[in-house]
Amino acid sequence: AARSSTESFVGSIDQGTTSSRFLIFNEAGEVVASSQQEFTQIYPQPGWHEHDPEEIVASVKSCIDSAVTAFKTNGYSISSIKAVGITNQRETTVVWNTHTGEPLYNAIVWTDTRTQSLVRKLKEHETSDTLQSLTGLPLSTYPSAGKLLWLLDNVPRVRDAYENGYLSFGTIDAWLIYKLNGGVDRNVFVTDPSNASRTMFMNIHTLKYDPTLFAFFNLDGEKLHLPRIVHSSDREAYGTLDSTELVNTPITGCLGDQSAALVGQKGFSAGQAKNTYGTGCFLLYNVGESPVISTHGLLTTVAFDFQGKVNYALEGSIAVAGSSIKFLRDNFEFINDSPDISALAETVEDNGGCVFVTAFSGLFAPYWIDDARGTIFGITTYTKRGHIARATLEATCFQTKAILQAMEKDSGHKLKELAVDGGMCNSDLAMQTQADLISIPVKRPAMRETTALGAAIAAGLAVGVWSSIDDIQTTNTEGQTVFNPVMTKDKAESMFALWERAVTMSRGWTN
Ligand code: G3P
Repeated sequence: AARSSTESFVGSIDQGTTSSRFLIFNEAGEVVASSQQEFTQIYPQPGWHEHDPEEIVASVKSCIDSAVTAFKTNGYSISSIKAVGITNQRETTVVWNTHTGEPLYNAIVWTDTRTQSLVRKLKEHETSDTLQSLTGLPLSTYPSAGKLLWLLDNVPRVRDAYENGYLSFGTIDAWLIYKLNGGVDRNVFVTDPSNASRTMFMNIHTLKYDPTLFAFFNLDGEKLHLPRIVHSSDREAYGTLDSTELVNTPITGCLGDQSAALVGQKGFSAGQAKNTYGTGCFLLYNVGESPVISTHGLLTTVAFDFQGKVNYALEGSIAVAGSSIKFLRDNFEFINDSPDISALAETVEDNGGCVFVTAFSGLFAPYWIDDARGTIFGITTYTKRGHIARATLEATCFQTKAILQAMEKDSGHKLKELAVDGGMCNSDLAMQTQADLISIPVKRPAMRETTALGAAIAAGLAVGVWSSIDDIQTTNTEGQTVFNPVMTKDKAESMFALWERAVTMSRGWTN
């Protein structure tokens, strides 16, 4: 039966590291239809990680079509979907031919460490902390800049395109928006500050590209085509979908996935924080309207730029979270499905003395050790798979603890509780472990699709589905689960001390 025609909906594209999704939200912020598709992870060499940019677009389109089909089957009409928001894995770098829209190489994924030696050389030229104070990011293999330099140095067709002025560079948001608008014909080539702030080309204070940064990376800003930076919520700038079931629907919101999760958790004000356990794990702490540059190993990032309201966040980035569970499933075949990790970990009482530093992509915040690699310590003949499973879950929790300590030093503020989301937060054991190790309560919302909700909020605000942030403050506040710490602080500290020792021992590997 046809449903009420007055209700409005917002679609949300969530293009993550391992899967693409499309979700449709109603005005109450509830999911009414969704679809998810995994796509190919390409690992050509140890430390290398790529995606096929065309496959990413195809996966997004197919998710839109299947979710919209389900939406229609449930009696809703397409015209009630007022806008679409986009949220995406950040830093992942795509280059394409400006004239044809054809990708010139696979996307280099944020986790990729091939730039390790290039970054080491760049660090030798870095004479002060200017880069971090301008961009919010320390030099590492993580941001897009190094990935672009590697492409220019190693892929002749990318170098040619650059020298001849037809090289377009973008993060996944810019690539998707360009392609979903039909590519070269309409040439909608834009990004938002939360994504642009991950490239190292944007000045975090002005929200504009900065010639000082191009000079540092020895790039000619005239030769390179970069997406225009527009507000994260915008009625016009992002164009409209040119195909799929939602043809002609406007795209009106865009946020990097971690910023989107902060918005989806309604972390609109200074002092609010969230931790998202996705492929990686990212803790964002809203610091308000001025950026705070970390001196303890955190990043500074744009939380969101809603017209007239720009907020910044301190970020603790952990490269490996869900991907470590996928690793135990696919490489070690310890489990058949990721959620089985909790049951395996529960076959033992504790980690049995094992510590797993899951530094598959080096170690990110707050350590920034590019040459760390995955290392398991404390193995004896007593060690069982359950101990490794536990140590794997604990690795993300230990890094979260280290990040909270750094955040406390940078902000002078101690977090009273931690809001969580993302796949791994479905594990009660992982969240109890997290609460135990950080000695504060962990709060998990009933509806965990907060990243997608954040992008929907950005899009919905632009078209008046929600008239202001106040309109959505109470969305998804009921039915949350609270995990209270039960472990003694002494025990948590002694476990953490062992982790820190293991971290120092994981250094010194090159690909
Ligand atoms: O910075 C990388 C981040 O945006 C990836 O997020 O959800 O794929 O772990 P996720």
